[in-house]
Amino acid sequence: MAANQEFYWRRLHSLVGVIPVGIFLLQHLVVNNFATRGPDAFNKAAHFMESLPFRIGLEVFIIYLPLLFHAIYGLYIAFTAKNNIGKYSYFRNWMFMLQRVSGVITLIFIAWHVWETRVAAAFGAEVNFNMMADILSSPFMLAFYVAGVVSTIFHFANGLWSFAVSWGLTVTPRSQLIATYVTIGIFLLLSFVGLNTIFAFV
Ligand code: HEM
Repeated sequence: MAANQEFYWRRLHSLVGVIPVGIFLLQHLVVNNFATRGPDAFNKAAHFMESLPFRIGLEVFIIYLPLLFHAIYGLYIAFTAKNNIGKYSYFRNWMFMLQRVSGVITLIFIAWHVWETRVAAAFGAEVNFNMMADILSSPFMLAFYVAGVVSTIFHFANGLWSFAVSWGLTVTPRSQLIATYVTIGIFLLLSFVGLNTIFAFV
């Protein structure tokens, strides 16, 4: 790929990770947190999301196509990236490598999660509190969901750090240090929201 073309693809990949995919992740975490208020509150929230007008169009253009592009191009980046941790084992090189590893784990998790919820719904299953409680009653699936949700949130939060660098928002070492603290805070806060939701089904 010509270097100039690659630059624009990388920029688009970076942007799509935040808008719309990152925004969707935030919305999904917040709506699912209704589970902490009991089965009725969760089912009401889930049915409201399912009843939105233009649902299929919104899903395809705001979720599936951007996520597919980010994931496929992300795999290309992950497997062609030069991981530096052997040479320089400091924090940022580890984060650079973990960004790629968490991308691959996130892909496996999302593929399975979409299969057993959204695809199952298309074949007639009802996605509700009981369905999730049933899935999470298996200790293996519980561990898989915990790992998948934490990996996705890590990938998003750490991705915000590199997004800010890619788009010239944090240029100085000091601003990048502040961004490190802010993104660690985002990681901890969203992990709390996500894990709280998972354990509400158990
Ligand atoms: C909910 C799902 C996802 C979200 C919210 C998300 C978000 C992000 C964000 C915000 C970035 C930072 C962009 C930048 O560095 O400027 C990023 C980078 C990255 N993502 Fe994702 N992502 C998701 C899924 C995936 C998947 C499934 C893969 C597949 C392997 C992936 C692979 C990557 C890679 C390799 C990078 C690093 C790009 C670079 O350093 O240039 N992501 N992601």
